[in-house]
Amino acid sequence: MKKNIVLLPGDGIGPEVTRAAATVLRECGQEFTHQFEIHEYLIGGAAIDTTGTPLPNETLDACRKADAVFLGAVGGAKWDSLPVGKRPESGLLALRQGLGLYVNVRPVKVWEPLRGISPLKPERLGDLDLEIVRELAGGMYFGERGNSTEQGRERSWDTESYSTPEIERIATFAFSRAEARSRRLCSVDKANVLASSQLWRRTVSAMGTVYPYVKLEHMYVDNAAMQLTLRPTQFDVILSTNMFGDILSDAAAALVGSIGLIPSASFGTSASLFEPIHGSAPSLVGTDSANPIGSVLSATMMLRDAFGLSLEAEWVEQSLLRVLGAGYRTADIAQPGVRAVGGSVFTETLREEMLRTLEHAERYGWGV
Ligand code: NAD
Ligand code: IPM
Ligand code: MN
Repeated sequence: MKKNIVLLPGDGIGPEVTRAAATVLRECGQEFTHQFEIHEYLIGGAAIDTTGTPLPNETLDACRKADAVFLGAVGGAKWDSLPVGKRPESGLLALRQGLGLYVNVRPVKVWEPLRGISPLKPERLGDLDLEIVRELAGGMYFGERGNSTEQGRERSWDTESYSTPEIERIATFAFSRAEARSRRLCSVDKANVLASSQLWRRTVSAMGTVYPYVKLEHMYVDNAAMQLTLRPTQFDVILSTNMFGDILSDAAAALVGSIGLIPSASFGTSASLFEPIHGSAPSLVGTDSANPIGSVLSATMMLRDAFGLSLEAEWVEQSLLRVLGAGYRTADIAQPGVRAVGGSVFTETLREEMLRTLEHAERYGWGV
């Protein structure tokens, strides 16, 4: 299989976690004789510093032509004083918009060897395995915003707005996802206050009749945040808006111990985008302590969801499971008494384990 992959390392820990994903993809290409052509482009603060803009045309063009795009992270203190539309983060938003990405899937599950790092009691954590389906192309992120000054007083505003087709297309994805899993869908909104949420709830409800086998529930976002912490196993697929989905996914990440563990995939009308859900983690830069797992799992989502290579994805995940089983941990997921390794050692250990898994495929019960 021949694939053209664009890598966007970005800022902060972005480049180091992107390296981990690229290592996995390269190893996969080599061992399974796929031609993965990997090309790097600028985005975020790194692009601002070099070209003056967070999403250069050259980057967007390359992404549009790619079979899949991988992004590390953007943002950092150096660019924090820029106005919102000129910051590194606006490059990521423009990329999502430019690729027509309206679906963002964020799976959160317990990895057996990491059970002990959850802040939840074991009986509450259970076999947590959920997916957040976040609307990615609308809502407050892309609504009208502005600033004004009246009588010396400043005012700024952002607008949350959704249309029926925007809600229908993300809900269609979420219903199908729920159908393929445990057939439970919880749509999260703030319909007791927001007009956009009332339309959201009405539209999702109406679509429920098209998916009679999916048990649909609605929940207000404040309650959903609490329920996630108290009884997270009640959830299977959570559908929400761009803003609520962003917030709930960081909260859900904490349940399994670290945001560094969570991958994501975004789909739309052009190339798909894969990125860990965490940011550029400025305080970790230069310490080689960033957890590369969210990034590696974003690469496995690329293999499975963009290229249909589930065997290869499973190979990486099983190898990762064994590396964790052998006690390797980055600092964020280290338990008391366990020595943490750097992100680069973790990635190299994973790479070696991937090769061992292939050598001993039969013994490990993993077929090629
Ligand atoms: P963050 O995700 O960068 O960090 C939050 C916390 O999680 C920090 O304590 C950090 O050290 C830790 N963390 C994050 N990733 C980790 C990893 N891989 N391994 C171990 N620990 C990890 O969020 P923030 O601090 O709110 O934002 C920092 C910058 O990143 C800001 O400029 C923000 O806008 C940007 N950001 C970018 C993205 C993205 O590019 N997709 C996402 C979120 C935030
Ligand atoms: C994320 C981030 C982004 C978002 C920012 C950096 C634009 O928080 O990917 O979760 O809010 O979508
Ligand atoms: Mn976020």
